Amino acid sequence: MTTITGSVLITGPTRGLGRAAVLAMAARPAGERPDLLLVGRSGAAMAEVAAEARARGAVVHEIGCDLAHLADVRAAASTVRNLIATGQVREMRALVANAGTMTTDTRLASADGYELTFAVNYLAHAQLIGDLLGTLTGPARIVLLGSNTYRANVWRRLLHVPEARWADPIAIARPDTGDVNPGMGAGGIAYSNAKLAILYYAHELQRHAGDDVRVSVFEPGWMPGTALGRGAPPAAQAVMRGIARIPGVATPERSGPVLAAMALDAEWAHLRDGAFVVRDEVREVFPVARDRDRESRLWAATAELLERAAAVG
Ligand SMILES: NC(=O)c1ccc[n+]([C@@H]2O[C@H](COP(=O)([O-])OP(=O)(O)OC[C@H]3O[C@@H](n4cnc5c(N)ncnc54)[C@H](OP(=O)(O)O)[C@@H]3O)[C@@H](O)[C@H]2O)c1
Repeated sequence: MTTITGSVLITGPTRGLGRAAVLAMAARPAGERPDLLLVGRSGAAMAEVAAEARARGAVVHEIGCDLAHLADVRAAASTVRNLIATGQVREMRALVANAGTMTTDTRLASADGYELTFAVNYLAHAQLIGDLLGTLTGPARIVLLGSNTYRANVWRRLLHVPEARWADPIAIARPDTGDVNPGMGAGGIAYSNAKLAILYYAHELQRHAGDDVRVSVFEPGWMPGTALGRGAPPAAQAVMRGIARIPGVATPERSGPVLAAMALDAEWAHLRDGAFVVRDEVREVFPVARDRDRESRLWAATAELLERAAAVG
């Protein structure tokens, strides 16, 4: 049952998990349906998901934002504050930091000069949350998107999915300078590092956010065939689309409603301190994902990276 009513902001609403979560929230009965603040790249996919959500009865605002550009993120936060202050949407009760990317070339940089996967998956969300923390009305929730790839297991080793290789966040944020395309291996490490950063950040964020804002992290399960794998070779993408049809494999249609429930429902109201939900169960993270020194260092380094970007505009 819905306990959170008001507005929900979600990034990455245009496809995959985010789109499924948006439509699940929009499909709720009128008294339980939140207003939706969709933060993502403008275009046909954004217009289409917004139209579908409106057709289900939701109040929807499309907020165009390229998360690879921190000036865009700061502008999106300002738009949200204005929409709430002018009463165009109800008070914001949940923020779902869902958008994600996985580049195969770690030489790619965001508009601010940071390694693209780290910039989009982590830094942009740290900026958005930092800018909007004071705008949330408690009791409120922040749901971040994690991934089990932060740590290797037998299956991930077999599939050559690399685990995180942590370093100082300033170094992680630096694009690769090598001449040769580092390929999937380095891209996979960048993705896993960004997801480990999200776990560290969630733990630290709870210490700063106070009791009225509860922070959790969702791992939706491996959803082969979403656009996250769009950088993979076409043959690999075809295989992933095939695996997605196997019964029991996670899909946006299965995991999207769980993400919506984590943002809204009484069932998940107890989650806090970066509680990690894998598919639909709370799981303890492995020890590598709890480290007070790394968590506080990440917090300080993030402030430095965001300030540096803001200073150049
Ligand atoms: N797929 C999996 O197996 C899996 C497993 C664990 C965790 N996750 C996490 O779940 C989340 C959703 O993944 P998904 O599989 O649904 O991926 P997806 O289908 O690729 O969707 C990703 C979303 O992020 C948005 N996005 C990417 N780069 C952006 C940018 N620069 N600016 C604005 N928006 C941007 C995309 O927008 P555009 O439409 O504009 O590209 C899209 O809406 C991610 O955080 C991912 O890391 C996924």
